[in-house]
Amino acid sequence: MTRAAEPADPADHAAQAVPARSTVGIVGGGPAGLLLARLLHRAGVDCVVLESRDRAYVEQRQRAGILEQGTVDALRGCGAATRLEREGLVHDGVELRWDGRRHRIDFPSLTGGRRVWVYAQTEVVKDLIALQLHDGPPLLFDAEVRQVTGAHQERPVIHYTHGGRDRTLVCDWVVGCDGFYGVTRRAVPDGVLRTLEKVYPYSWLGMLADVPPSSDELIYAHSPRGFALHSMRSPTVSRLYLQVPNGTDPADWPDQRIWDELDARFALDARFARDGGWTLNRGPVTQKAVLPMRSLVTEPMRWGRVLLAGDAAHIVPPTGAKGLNLAASDVVVLARAFAAQAADGSTALLDAYSDTCLRRVWRAEHFSWSMTTMLHTDPDQSEFETRLQLSQLDRIAASPQASAELAENYAGLPIG
Ligand code: PHB
Repeated sequence: MTRAAEPADPADHAAQAVPARSTVGIVGGGPAGLLLARLLHRAGVDCVVLESRDRAYVEQRQRAGILEQGTVDALRGCGAATRLEREGLVHDGVELRWDGRRHRIDFPSLTGGRRVWVYAQTEVVKDLIALQLHDGPPLLFDAEVRQVTGAHQERPVIHYTHGGRDRTLVCDWVVGCDGFYGVTRRAVPDGVLRTLEKVYPYSWLGMLADVPPSSDELIYAHSPRGFALHSMRSPTVSRLYLQVPNGTDPADWPDQRIWDELDARFALDARFARDGGWTLNRGPVTQKAVLPMRSLVTEPMRWGRVLLAGDAAHIVPPTGAKGLNLAASDVVVLARAFAAQAADGSTALLDAYSDTCLRRVWRAEHFSWSMTTMLHTDPDQSEFETRLQLSQLDRIAASPQASAELAENYAGLPIG
């Protein structure tokens, strides 16, 4: 199955490392593309990864930091979890806050032993890049894919520019891991893909602060002032989020305003603060960015020999941190399908790829939407709608079944 790299132009030294032919061409070197490459490498299926940005950019792109059990298992299975085992923080629960109250959701007892890991996407990406450059299939940075042609032919072609030269990569399969604005989606003719979308009337202000986390676990807070989330990156770095209006300028949020607002949104009623109380640690805010929120699914996730994975096919709002985990489950399903095809020529799993993934995608879409709408305050929200949110939060606190529903979805369903 493994094919030797064919230099595109033997006269060009730089070109010698760049194959012109590959079984799988992966467009996009974010977590989906890199994990797929690692899984394929392990399965003996050759591939090439083309990433339009440089390495520093890819390694610094801030995203959520929660890994489900299935994602951790996939990273372990391909030898990419050494630093995660050492530095990742294992979390057995999250806290919900609303109406001055708090309630802890305990994952292991509600899910038969599942838990999550706090380990930033930036670190997953760094680990996968280091492995791939060490012993993996070719990974080209600054390789700008211009077009994918022949999606419905035997040999689709990726046309890209690298090192100032136009090049082509002829593949058996092309996988688009290049996000919603990537070029791979455009290889599919108009009218084939259907995109279903919901845009939310609020955004998140995401912040990194040089201060030890104020809690051992994440805190998701509903407040009449808007949603707030307390997360972390390490024992010395906190990751915090505030719901803000769409179009907010981060410059309007100096440190003092951020901390005062977080304090107000996380505030506990004296009756619920008694058991140990709670103080929000303050420290210098080192990064601020506004993140829009939307839910989006593209169907189907395959057309001919072009397959879409991760954000190229679906987007979730960050509440519940499903984005990276969904991308990981797409590529686990896909790697199994390519491995089966390499082993006995069967395309049954590749044929089922879109349906298999979309079942899980829609579950995660529902969960992310329900967490988002339960916890955020819509600017046009009526008092009636607020009471529905509070009733749902009360229900979760009162009912092990309702808690288990949240816990199972949060900790992640097994990859089917
Ligand atoms: C994060 O740590 O960045 C994070 C955690 C949980 C979320 C979203 C983001 O739901």
